[in-house]
Amino acid sequence: MSTTQTHAKFSYDAHARTCAPDDFLRQTRRTVHDEPMSDAQLRMIMEAIHNGLQLQPDDVLIELACGNGLLSVQLFDACRGYLGTDISDYLISVAKKHFERLPNHRFEVRGGIECITQESQPERFTRALCYAGFQYFGDQDISHILTMLYRRFTRLERIFIGNLPDRARITDFFTHRMPGEDELSDPGTALGAWRTREAFAQLADAAGWQTVFSIMPPEFYASHYRYDVTLTRQG
Ligand SMILES: C[S@@+](CC[C@H](N)C(=O)[O-])C[C@H]1O[C@@H](n2cnc3c(N)ncnc32)[C@H](O)[C@@H]1O
Repeated sequence: MSTTQTHAKFSYDAHARTCAPDDFLRQTRRTVHDEPMSDAQLRMIMEAIHNGLQLQPDDVLIELACGNGLLSVQLFDACRGYLGTDISDYLISVAKKHFERLPNHRFEVRGGIECITQESQPERFTRALCYAGFQYFGDQDISHILTMLYRRFTRLERIFIGNLPDRARITDFFTHRMPGEDELSDPGTALGAWRTREAFAQLADAAGWQTVFSIMPPEFYASHYRYDVTLTRQG
């Protein structure tokens, strides 16, 4: 049986190309009510990332779905090495032009699956990050990514995954209309797939990771419908 999809798909690459070349916040939709996010909101995001990753000076960090690197560059001084990857050619070209710090802190165009399965030196990474990006992967891809991170990235101690839309809180976000099941679970929409913490924990647990969930302070514009999660190895 075939179903007709009525909801819109979204491409960050196409969207970013419509923004000014230096409008870093709009390129990755870091906006609140269509205005670029305030410094105070950005500081809250960076604090959550720092708390989750607990970077040590000798750490080497890999990031999936890093976008244009605006957030990533703020982590460079806290780690010895960094590889940021994203599926968007355009966003990575912006990251390279404005934020890359060769040779140790660099960006490359790679989709999430490709990045995790084809990385030639996975054992050099000790931390992993995906902020506002994991919702753009389906369940199968998430299982694959987390399993590969566990098995191939043998020295990885912590993964921080942030800004995930919470399926248990859809009524706090969708106040005027309620999307159908197909839209809520579609990773290709502008908001990505909505998952409960329990659903996420199951995927992580099956791949060997222990989960600790957190939410942003109430002053954060999206704290009422999003959560963050830190993964460490089980047992
Ligand atoms: C909301 S932006 C987040 C960017 C950045 N992490 C930040 O927080 O500013 C989502 C990013 O996910 C990337 N993305 C979507 N699907 C992806 C995939 N399959 N592999 C890698 N990146 C992907 C998009 O290109 C986009 O840069």
